[in-house]
Amino acid sequence: MLPQYCFDHYIIAMNQIGIGIIGCGGIVLQNHLPGLALCPEAKLAALCDTNPAVLQKAGAQTGVTAAFSNYLDLLARSDVNAVIIATPNLFHAPIALAAIAAGKHVLCEKPIAMDYAESLKMLRAAEKAGVRHMTAFTYRFVPAMRYMAHLMKSGFLGQPYHFRSCRLQNWGTRAVGWRQVAKQAGTGELGDMVSHRIDYAHLLIGPIGRLVADLRRFHDLRDEQPSDLEDWAALLVEFSGCQATGVLESSKVATGRGEGTRSQDYCEVNGSEGSLVFQLERPLELQIAKRGETSLRIVPVPEEFLKWPGSPRDPRAGDPSLTFRYDQDVEFIQAILEQRPCAPSFKEGAQVQQVMDSAVQSAQEKRWVEIEK
Ligand SMILES: NC(=O)c1ccc[n+]([C@@H]2O[C@H](COP(=O)([O-])OP(=O)(O)OC[C@H]3O[C@@H](n4cnc5c(N)ncnc54)[C@H](O)[C@@H]3O)[C@@H](O)[C@H]2O)c1
Repeated sequence: MLPQYCFDHYIIAMNQIGIGIIGCGGIVLQNHLPGLALCPEAKLAALCDTNPAVLQKAGAQTGVTAAFSNYLDLLARSDVNAVIIATPNLFHAPIALAAIAAGKHVLCEKPIAMDYAESLKMLRAAEKAGVRHMTAFTYRFVPAMRYMAHLMKSGFLGQPYHFRSCRLQNWGTRAVGWRQVAKQAGTGELGDMVSHRIDYAHLLIGPIGRLVADLRRFHDLRDEQPSDLEDWAALLVEFSGCQATGVLESSKVATGRGEGTRSQDYCEVNGSEGSLVFQLERPLELQIAKRGETSLRIVPVPEEFLKWPGSPRDPRAGDPSLTFRYDQDVEFIQAILEQRPCAPSFKEGAQVQQVMDSAVQSAQEKRWVEIEK
């Protein structure tokens, strides 16, 4: 029997890509369902979740009746051409590998795997099978980050000196479910929050060459439930091929900082010719300074960067700190239709995973770690 993806041309000609969602929790409701709703070519075909209450809620919300507790049942369906994997991190790799083996395109939540070796296996399998593969580095889609990346590419910064990111939230001592369990999440704040910021560093400056890191847990119990993962992470990095330095810090216990999009999420680059400052709470502007200036000025993001190319979204509709997230699913569907690589793909997901593994090693061994090319 021919694998499913051999029929994709036919399905694409019919303008329908069947989507299966595996793991129907928070991020699916927040990002992926509204994102898919923007894509007339995408048809939500099946749902899977091991929690019956979550599955029932997702079914009621979407009207999809093909609902499964075992992802293999979803993958066996011929009306599912592509899957979105949004389970706890532990399950990303086995589900992605099974989906790829069944010829499905895969959009996988970050961090894509539990370690670098797993992420490489996913990348190689997807490339070999010729399916589309995408990592959900959602914050690449923020208009201000897209504009920042464009300015970096056009040489605005001159010689890069510094990369800096700071993510400060206050989750206090409340329980955070699988996120506080090493067996299910792999890492704590590192994979949860810093993974996106490592991706910023790669996007804006280039590959990280070496690093020293520290990880710290302040709460062994969250709502009386044991936590064996870090609440805080910090990385001091050097980049390959340039002299730029990088400092990345992220905390779940920054008292008074709040949570989510309104809390501190800041990224700055400085170079010989200028500086650029990004803040997630102001997704439609950058702060900029050129050589010779003594303070930053606010620059609105130009029209062409307000949404992903081809996204049908009205960039002025809705809350701009949420709506950019929907462009991620638009990119996945467009890449399938156009039969081209997704941006970002599993390659970027694996590069981040390699840096994360090195940060864990550095923190354990209390030393600088070189990152192999
Ligand atoms: N890209 C982003 O900005 C972003 C934001 C939040 C979360 N995430 C990532 O998304 C993933 C899910 O996070 P969440 O906040 O939605 O978690 P969640 O706990 O709200 O949802 C996960 C769901 O997966 C289900 N599940 C667990 N094991 C399963 C299995 N084997 N098969 C099918 N379903 C299973 C759970 O029952 C749950 O409903 C994580 O990898 C997380 O890091 C990414």
